[in-house]
Amino acid sequence: MSGENLLTIEDLSVSFKSGAGDPVEVIDRVSLKLERGKTLSLVGESGCGKSVTASSVMRILPQPYGIVTNGKILFEGQNILDLPIEEMYKKRGAEIAMIFQEPMTALNPVHIVEKQIGEVFELHRPEITKDDRQQHVLKVLKDVEMPSAEQRLKNYPFQLSGGMRQRVMIAMALAGHPKLLIADEPTTALDVTVQAQILALIKALQEKNNMSVLYITHDMGVVAEVSDDVAVMYAGQIVETADVNTIFKNPRHPYTRGLIASMPKMNSEPKTHLPYIKGAVPSPRAYPATCRFAERCSYATDYCRSNTPKLEEFEPGHFIRCFRAKELD
Ligand SMILES: Nc1ncnc2c1ncn2[C@@H]1O[C@H](COP(=O)(O)OP(=O)(O)OP(=O)(O)O)[C@@H](O)[C@H]1O
Ligand SMILES: [Mg+2]
Repeated sequence: MSGENLLTIEDLSVSFKSGAGDPVEVIDRVSLKLERGKTLSLVGESGCGKSVTASSVMRILPQPYGIVTNGKILFEGQNILDLPIEEMYKKRGAEIAMIFQEPMTALNPVHIVEKQIGEVFELHRPEITKDDRQQHVLKVLKDVEMPSAEQRLKNYPFQLSGGMRQRVMIAMALAGHPKLLIADEPTTALDVTVQAQILALIKALQEKNNMSVLYITHDMGVVAEVSDDVAVMYAGQIVETADVNTIFKNPRHPYTRGLIASMPKMNSEPKTHLPYIKGAVPSPRAYPATCRFAERCSYATDYCRSNTPKLEEFEPGHFIRCFRAKELD
């Protein structure tokens, strides 16, 4: 990695308070770096903490339950965790935008498309006058390749297909020309053809605006397609991180290897479990103090089950949290 980091997450820990019990830690000292103009994928099974990481960057952790207990989130060198929330509102949309798996999370069901996207211009692009707004909304809809863009201006979200809603959400995210786009499983709910179109679209718009993308997914096929760098997350921790070629050519963590082996083949049904990794992710309350993956790992020894692995540099730029990483073939 040589370029300038737009986003640096340092040792981020997040806990959730629930009822009368002690807070439960769901993210444990996560560190990530994302260069300007690049794509970093955060990958891992359901529940490992990907969305909590993204929500922390957006500062949309559910309040008052979600608490950052440690760490920094530096955006252009500034710790956004220290910003007054009003300053953060200004950054959201203008500098950092997010797209979600389910577009209805971001869309207002009672507003037509023109108004939803128009509001982003109103908030974040004051140089565009009210009279010019419709024209800009239309342009951004065309940029995201919305079919029959003119007619869609007056549509409500329920009148659109899933892929069209996704395009509206992406159009809204991009209307403010963000420097960072966080895409949290934006294509999971779409069929493969639309998924490929959306991925290509994000990539094209990224190149045009030199935008950085934090791409969240559980799909290693998508990771291979979109990433410059990859961070693999398991049970609230980063277990392996490297550039995309290294991750696929020389994966060292048994979990990363399992994810790669479980990649769905073309035309197969989406999988709900990983055929090459037995068992399931433990719940955060049950995370062991030792290696969190040991109970599912076919390489684990007694040592792994009684000691705590650290994330260590295996070769330049390639970090692994595994006692056995050096010994695997
Ligand atoms: N509001 C909440 N209250 C309590 N626990 C939560 C809350 N939101 C998330 N968690 C817990 O935090 C952990 C991480 O959840 P997160 O949503 O980040 O997972 P994820 O990796 O995004 O999974 P998925 O692939 O299913 O989206 C999970 O154990 C989850 O149960
Ligand atoms: Mg999630």
